[in-house]
Parts: sequence; structure tokens; C-alpha cells
Amino acid sequence: MKTYLVTGAAGFIGCNFVRYIMQAHGDQCRVIVVDALTYAGNLGSIADLLEHDNCSFVKCDIGDHDAIAKLLAENDVDYIVNFAAESHVDRSITGPRIFVETNVLGTQNLLDCARFAWRLPDGSYPESKKFLQVSTDEVYGSLSKDFEQAEPLALDDDLKPLADGRTDMKTYGRNFFEETTPVSPRSPYSASKTAADLLVLAYHETYGLPVNVTRCSNNYGPYHFPEKLIPLLINNILQGKKLPVYGRGENVRDWLYVEDHCRAIDLVLQRGRLGEVYNVGGFNEESNINIVRLVIDTVARLIKENPDYMKVVECDPALINDNLIEFVTDRPGHDMRYAINPSKIVRELGWFPTTPFTRGIEHTVRWNLEHRDWVKSVTSGDYQSYYEKQYNR
Ligand code: NAD
Ligand code: DAU
Repeated sequence: MKTYLVTGAAGFIGCNFVRYIMQAHGDQCRVIVVDALTYAGNLGSIADLLEHDNCSFVKCDIGDHDAIAKLLAENDVDYIVNFAAESHVDRSITGPRIFVETNVLGTQNLLDCARFAWRLPDGSYPESKKFLQVSTDEVYGSLSKDFEQAEPLALDDDLKPLADGRTDMKTYGRNFFEETTPVSPRSPYSASKTAADLLVLAYHETYGLPVNVTRCSNNYGPYHFPEKLIPLLINNILQGKKLPVYGRGENVRDWLYVEDHCRAIDLVLQRGRLGEVYNVGGFNEESNINIVRLVIDTVARLIKENPDYMKVVECDPALINDNLIEFVTDRPGHDMRYAINPSKIVRELGWFPTTPFTRGIEHTVRWNLEHRDWVKSVTSGDYQSYYEKQYNR
């Protein structure tokens, strides 16, 4: 029986992670969700999970020392998994301060609380304990593109048997982020995540705190807040609204289905070597403009195939085509390409991103078509004024 304290689990990846571990471990896990419920946190994303006796919720800021210390004193927590963060690059450009407060100082507070709660009289830590920092490939900075179009990715021979039949892996370049790549963040968001990573690793070196850091590429899937590219596209398409593409849509991201990411985190918690960083990526690079076209095509196809989905379309379905695309002013300092080499976690822990992109996208579009109440509830209120400011500037 393991007790997980999961911060930020009313947000996108965190809520999928809690869903994943409760399914994978059943009543062999106990979960305490800690979340401040910022604009990005929604209790509705975990409401069904909270009905189980082994899952509870505490509304709390990760920077609140007394509250976190009390939680750790009252519960024998094995794993702290820190998802809580300000996570949107565009918001970090217009308002960087909260990114330092939450991502840097909040993480440092969690580390200190864990250190004092877990340390044994001889200065060591029980073997069952671990602090896992959920980080991002953005800490490595930006890569260049070597090819205009994606090319097939050649897997190393020893990884091929683990690929689980996947043949769709692709890349836009020859270079990749390795765990040994020097950090080189370029936005206030990625700078704050880098600072947090360095603190986590420093607490391991200095105090011996048992830690891991995972650095992941762009996630997509259910419960994704529609300020990020893929859910924003789906939501706009269903309303017949323009699809804002920064610059010329040439930037490349490596996309990972969220459930594959959750499996990776759980494996690192259980078997990751202490003090190590693990890159987690999808072997799936795509340019933004290709993503936009794929999402348009997928929405158009699914609503044609299933008349029930027509009920949630708020525009003339004939308008769902590439004419919705609108090229807009680029993001300042926009990173050109992210590409992760996840070979370390594949080799050491036997993990592989098994969801092919077309299947993951189809599942994500279906989820959005079938959960319009969730989307409506998270896009009421503040979301409207954010959208006005961000896209009508
Ligand atoms: P999200 O914005 O959807 O969710 C963040 C959650 O943290 C929200 O529930 C919010 O209420 C909570 N939160 C924010 N500030 C808090 C505070 N001070 N105290 C407690 N809770 C607070 O983010 P996400 O996309 O789910 O990302 C989760 C983590 O994964 C982040 O650390 C992010 O940097 C990292 N990450 C995200 C991606 C991605 O593609 N989304 C990729 C790699 C890494
Ligand atoms: O790489 C991991 C990171 O992925 C995470 O650390 C971040 O938390 C997460 O938000 C994500 O960052 P990105 O900036 O890559 O994601 P976003 O969805 O904001 O943008 C994806 C790409 O799409 C990026 O090149 C910018 C572009 N974009 C985005 C939006 C919101 C557009 O062209 N138009 C848009 O409206």
C-alpha cells in the first residue's frame, strides 16, 4: 500500500495521473490531492475519483508551509508527485511573477517540508519515500529543424523489440534533447521550471533527499484546458471560430498521449534510480500547421460519421475546413523545435509511448465532443477575458 500526495491534480496531467494510478493499483494506493484551484484547476476533473474512500482532496497552495507540513505530519506519505505549476508559456510572457512564486518557491517549500517530515534521526531517508518533480523538455531550450517535412525516425536496434508495433515515429531533425543536454530555458515559464529542477537535484545532493525529475514533451488528451493548442483548436472548430496559428505554423513539438506520460511517471516512482533525470517523449514530432490540419480533418470526419455529435456543433458543419486557419503574430521568443530522446527510460524501465498519434488525436477529439459540459464549465468566466486579451491584442 502506497500513499501518494499529488499536487496540481485538479489540472490536466495531474487528474489523468490520479485516474491512472487508481485504476492500475486499485485499493493498493491511497491518494491525497493538493491543489490551489487556480484558473487551470477544476474539481470537476476528479469529482468521480473523490467518491472513492482512498482518494481525498485538500485545497492548498504548495507554497503554504504550515499547511503542507501539517499534511505530511498527519499522513504517512510515500510519494510526493509535484504537478502543481503555472504551465502556460503565453501567460508567463504577460505575467511572469506568479511563475516564480508557484514554480520555484512553491517547489522549494514542498522540498523543505518533505525533508523535515521524512528525515530519520541518522540523517537518512526511508527507502519507501520519493519526491518526483514533473518537469518539461522546455528546460533544454530550442532545437533547429533539419528537414522541412517530417522524416521517419530510425529507432536504435535494441529499442525495436519494445516498440509494441508502432511504426509511425518521425522527426524533423538529427539532434535531440538528452538528459545530459545543458539546460537553456528561453521563456519565463521554462526558466522557472528549470530553477525548480535545479533545486530538486540540489536537495538530493545536499540533503540526500530521495528524488527524481521527469522531463516530458507536449502532452495531449482528455481534460486538457483549452488555452493550449490542441484543445483550443477543437473548441474553436466546434464554435466556427478562427484557429490562431502563431507565425507560419512551422514550429515543431513532440506530442505524447497523456496516459503514456502517466505510466512513465508511475514507473519512475517505483523503479527510477534516485537522483536521476528521465526524459519522456512520444517519438512523435509534428509541425503546428500539420496539427491544425489533422485536428480539422478529425473533427469533420467524426461528426460526419456520428450524427449524435452534430448536436454539439455550434456552427454550419460545412465551414469546418482549412479556411478557419488564421496566421497571427508570433509568440515572442517562440522555441522552434522540441525533440526528446527518451531512450534512457525505455532501456532502464521498459517504458514505451504506445499510443500512435492518429489514435490519440481521435480519442481526444471524441472526448471533447462527448464532454462539452466540462469544456463549457472551464471556459466560462475568466477564460473569455483571457482569450480577448491574448488573441485580440
Ligand atoms: P495545468 O495548468 O493544467 O494544471 C496545473 C494545476 O496546478 C492546476 O490544477 C492548478 O490549480 C494547480 N496549481 C497552480 N498553482 C498552484 C499552487 N500554487 N498550489 C497548488 N496548486 C496549484 O498543468 P498541466 O498541463 O497539467 O501540467 C502539469 C505539470 O506538468 C506542470 O508542472 C507542467 O510544467 C508539467 N508539464 C506539462 C506538459 C504539458 O504538455 N501540459 C508537458 C511537460 C511538463
Ligand atoms: O513541451 C512541454 C510544454 O508543452 C509544457 O511544459 C507546457 O506546460 C505546455 O503548455 C506545452 O508548451 P507549448 O508552448 O509547447 O504548448 P502550447 O499548447 O501553448 O503551444 C504548442 C505550439 O502551438 C507552440 O509552438 C505554440 C503554438 N500555438 C499555441 C497556441 C495556444 C499556436 O500556434 N497558437 C495558439 O493559439
